[in-house]
Amino acid sequence: MADELKRRLVVGLESSPKYIPFSYKYDEVGSRLQKESCEHVHDYYVTASEVSILQNSAQDIIPNVPNDLTLVDIGSGDCSKTRFVIDELIKRQNTLAFYPLDISGEFLMKAVTKLKEEYGDLLTIHPIVSDFMHELDQLRQIKGTKLILWIGSIFNQSYEDQISTLRLISTIMTDQCQLAFSADITLSRDAVLKAYNDDGGYKRRINLNGISRLNREEGSMIDLDKFSYHLDFIRNTHPEYMSYVRAFIEAKEDVQYPIPGLGIDLTMKKGEHLYLHEGTGLSCKYTLEQLQTIVEKAGLRLAGTLIDKEKHAVFCRCVTK
Ligand SMILES: C[S@@+](CC[C@H](N)C(=O)[O-])C[C@H]1O[C@@H](n2cnc3c(N)ncnc32)[C@H](O)[C@@H]1O
Repeated sequence: MADELKRRLVVGLESSPKYIPFSYKYDEVGSRLQKESCEHVHDYYVTASEVSILQNSAQDIIPNVPNDLTLVDIGSGDCSKTRFVIDELIKRQNTLAFYPLDISGEFLMKAVTKLKEEYGDLLTIHPIVSDFMHELDQLRQIKGTKLILWIGSIFNQSYEDQISTLRLISTIMTDQCQLAFSADITLSRDAVLKAYNDDGGYKRRINLNGISRLNREEGSMIDLDKFSYHLDFIRNTHPEYMSYVRAFIEAKEDVQYPIPGLGIDLTMKKGEHLYLHEGTGLSCKYTLEQLQTIVEKAGLRLAGTLIDKEKHAVFCRCVTK
């Protein structure tokens, strides 16, 4: 595992309160669970809403420029939603250079193999395995006009990280480039709790995959039966904040588990919480005003929004100021 990720894990597990960085749950297992949850959790409205926007309005996400565009997909996953934009761009310009970037390397390479089989010479793919919060150098080298997608990801970072990642993305943009990122605008507590407490337990398994991965890769033997799992929705419509889901495990008794791969012990008192994300929450929800504030704090300009019929999701089109 990359030293930086290990360092962040140690920081999280030694913080007060303790946490596991959100992106750690995205190994091969976590990415597969994420994909399955999108297919099987019908109450998880975000995917359907994002897909409906892309299906109906992919052309409105593409900037109207005379030259060919290069497509960048940050946190691309299996690229299934991206295909709507790929298809639209190939219709316009016949061929397309495509740069998907994801931290989950094996999963990304499988997706790339599938895309290559399907699109052949129409699509030239340059996969990048990297952490979008820290490292976008390879994308900065791309010449020409870029359409950058960041789908299904911003809402899984802390407020500060959302702004700093957007600011980092802005450093790979010229005044011709456009960024389109999706966000969840659902503020109904019932709808949110239904979506994240699914009967099949997909969301729970995804959230707990960080712990299971510590056991698989770092030699720990953390027994999840010694913890209870909790999930809540915190609604906050202040213009300079957001609503969010909070997920944590609580120790049912005092526990101590060595984590040999990290050289530390996980020691928790009865009743202590371990958060399954950094920052206050994950799966954040926004008002449009809150999104506009985040975009502006990152030094970008919100050029337009696309919202689905159910008003669950939005694509924000952003340009440089
Ligand atoms: C919720 S999924 C979204 C996937 C895809 N864009 C979609 O909408 O279906 C988040 C994706 O971001 C990736 N990811 C999470 N944290 C990351 C990071 N720090 N750097 C790069 N990729 C990351 C995960 O591996 C995962 O594929």
